[in-house]
Amino acid sequence: MKAEILNLLRERGDYVSGQELCDLFGVSRTAVWKVINQLKEEGYQVDAVRNRGYRIIDSPDVCTKEELDSLMHGQTAWAGQNIQFYKETDSTNLRAKQAGEQGEPHGTLVVAETQTAGRGRRGRGWVSPPGSSIYMSLMLRPSFEPDKAPMLTLIMAYSVARALEACLAESGVGKIQIKWPNDIVLNGKKLVGILTEMSTQIDYINHVVIGVGINVNREEFPEEIKETATSLRIEAGRCFKRAPLIVETMRQFEGTYEQFERCQDLAFLQEKYNGLLVNCGNDVMIHDARQSYQARALGINEKGELMVRREDGSVEAVYAGEVSVRGIYGYV
Ligand code: BTN
Repeated sequence: MKAEILNLLRERGDYVSGQELCDLFGVSRTAVWKVINQLKEEGYQVDAVRNRGYRIIDSPDVCTKEELDSLMHGQTAWAGQNIQFYKETDSTNLRAKQAGEQGEPHGTLVVAETQTAGRGRRGRGWVSPPGSSIYMSLMLRPSFEPDKAPMLTLIMAYSVARALEACLAESGVGKIQIKWPNDIVLNGKKLVGILTEMSTQIDYINHVVIGVGINVNREEFPEEIKETATSLRIEAGRCFKRAPLIVETMRQFEGTYEQFERCQDLAFLQEKYNGLLVNCGNDVMIHDARQSYQARALGINEKGELMVRREDGSVEAVYAGEVSVRGIYGYV
């Protein structure tokens, strides 16, 4: 009922009387009053005026299941329509994987306030303190073949970048850029990390989990990543709301994914993606399992591979598997 009351107050944008809420939801005045108090405790500013009722004035950085359900309403058809919210969990990627095994629908989104065993790439961890960042994992049941799955990381990176641009509009904090294939950077520092994991048969995907960590209102980072990590708050000098950013990411992702499903490649996205690519036209170091070499990054091709020109002039495509691409002098 909390979600329904929240939705109604939001949609109305004006005072709704306590009596109307009681009648609509078939509950007592005390029950309505309890819900309003819960909303206030979660951080909503609710104006209560005798003879007029209740009105939502603002919802600062509230990131609860009700808030997400309420904001997601009508924004997407399937991405983030089924939300599992945890105040604390080990890793949203693990919970999303479990959701995949338990038959939850395509587009199920797992969000946590904090993670006790957040997972990063290459077996690293992802430190996930409460109340300041976004930890979420989207579970998909694609109908295409497993070799196309790495492109989903690029689609997510693109979607998060677009959502960040929308949320940062006119804030003058700098350009959101993608560091192929998994990171998003702001002013040369890492703002977002993406970890895609999948469960497959030989020629069939059971499900894919795309985990996204966004440093939103974090003010400090551990010593070892201090030089390379940042948050929206550090760059902009103010706090941001997490829930609208999650919703906008789902909206962007759904549209881009549906286009990808139709074409089965990234030709439709190539130009726009390359426009956001931080490494485009720069010299980078490519580290793969066999070797490390310097090359100039040229942009992605229609398969989402990074095209690079090696020092001998040959052009080759780098597959987004276990490679790492770094600037020649540092992270980007
Ligand atoms: C990286 O190493 O850059 C990828 C980090 C991915 C972190 C996110 S946070 C939400 C999701 N759950 C996890 O355990 N990891 C991903």
